[in-house]
Amino acid sequence: MAISIPRGTQDILPGEVELWQLIEQKARELCEKYQYQEIRTPIFEHTELFSRGVGDTTDIVQKEMYTFEDRGGRSLTLRPEGTASTVRAFVEKKLFGSANQPVKLYYMGPMFRYERPQSGRFRQFVQFGIEALGSNDPAIDAEVISLAMNLYKEMGLKKLKLVINSLGDKESRIAHREALVQHFKPRIHEFCSDCQNRLEKNPLRILDCKQDREHELMSTAPSILEYLNDDSKAYFEKVQKYLTQLEIPFEVDANLVRGLDYYNHTAFEIMSDAEGFGAITTLAGGGRYNGLVEEIGGPETPGIGFALSIERFIAALKAEGVNIEIKQGIDCYLVTLGEEAKDYSVGLLQQLRLAGISAERDYFNRKIKAQFKAADRLKAKFVAILGDEELKNNKINVKNMETGDQVELDLDSFVSTFLEMQQ
Ligand code: HAM
Repeated sequence: MAISIPRGTQDILPGEVELWQLIEQKARELCEKYQYQEIRTPIFEHTELFSRGVGDTTDIVQKEMYTFEDRGGRSLTLRPEGTASTVRAFVEKKLFGSANQPVKLYYMGPMFRYERPQSGRFRQFVQFGIEALGSNDPAIDAEVISLAMNLYKEMGLKKLKLVINSLGDKESRIAHREALVQHFKPRIHEFCSDCQNRLEKNPLRILDCKQDREHELMSTAPSILEYLNDDSKAYFEKVQKYLTQLEIPFEVDANLVRGLDYYNHTAFEIMSDAEGFGAITTLAGGGRYNGLVEEIGGPETPGIGFALSIERFIAALKAEGVNIEIKQGIDCYLVTLGEEAKDYSVGLLQQLRLAGISAERDYFNRKIKAQFKAADRLKAKFVAILGDEELKNNKINVKNMETGDQVELDLDSFVSTFLEMQQ
């Protein structure tokens, strides 16, 4: 029996991969402009990194991690996200001591979560994310959000909605937490067992429960915004001021609770408003995590970042019907006629390629008509025709496939003349 692809994963084939490459390239270019540098961390880490970093009470850690024991008996986990790994590297490689502060990093690569697959939700997905470590300036919060928004806009997305919230500093969160416990405690038996566990450990998580979403206590739960102390309020106001200055429209939603535990102050999500995008509308999420570096064993360091998945990015482009032109076609297809010309074309093809020209030839002994058909399929701009006779006379014919014009060139200077013709 044939073996099939694992559930929740994808093969990205030629024809589709070009859009992936384009998004990846745009993301890299934008990071260069915003001065974020790439970091590559391992695909797996010690399990403890995520249980400590992402949080023991989160769905990700409790239900979704791909955890395994290696042959040495260590518990390892395929990374479910990139922030914990980036912070681990920041601490371990002592980037907090680097002269360039804040340390601004980006990553792009596969993440793994054992979730129920559905449209826009995969078990292996590719995240592009950025993390800015070391600065407490609300201008960085606005910068992180603006990079995400600009990437989407540059690719042509228009139907975007930015939702922001503040989870406040430690003091504000303690006060809010207390209010949440008081609110839910008397009727916690009406909630699911997960929520009952969350009440003492992490009551904020109750607000994120999918099962009890409709319970009447949810809509009347105390809002974090009412518990922000003066510092947290001032911080949040600055972030909003900068977003307005950058002409980025946003909505404040006091119920925005992210699925990871490390957030404080700014939390945000970017949604797609496009019709037909599907049930999951979140394209990107992020926020500030001022305690995470310490949690992972480093010095007190503020941080903020976001991540998006390319899968949902592409789904949004499709939902909005954005037409993206992908450069297609090769520069030159070599058509040969006769045995000697065919042999000669092996070397000629290499010369073209080494000169920077994308080139192809036939590998099936096809007749000349079929070779031209192959050239058409590859959308060749030019076809170079070499027969045994031309080879003897040091000539080659070159046909411009768009105009139909044909010229005869000297074979020994063909590659350099072809290069000039391209300009
Ligand atoms: P997250 O909200 O868990 O945050 O994920 C960020 C983004 O990853 C989501 O908005 C979505 O685009 C994508 N994503 C998550 N799960 C899946 C899935 N199963 N299939 C497809 N796409 C998915 C984080 O991961 C944080 N590390 C973000 C962050 C960075 N916060 C601060 N810095």
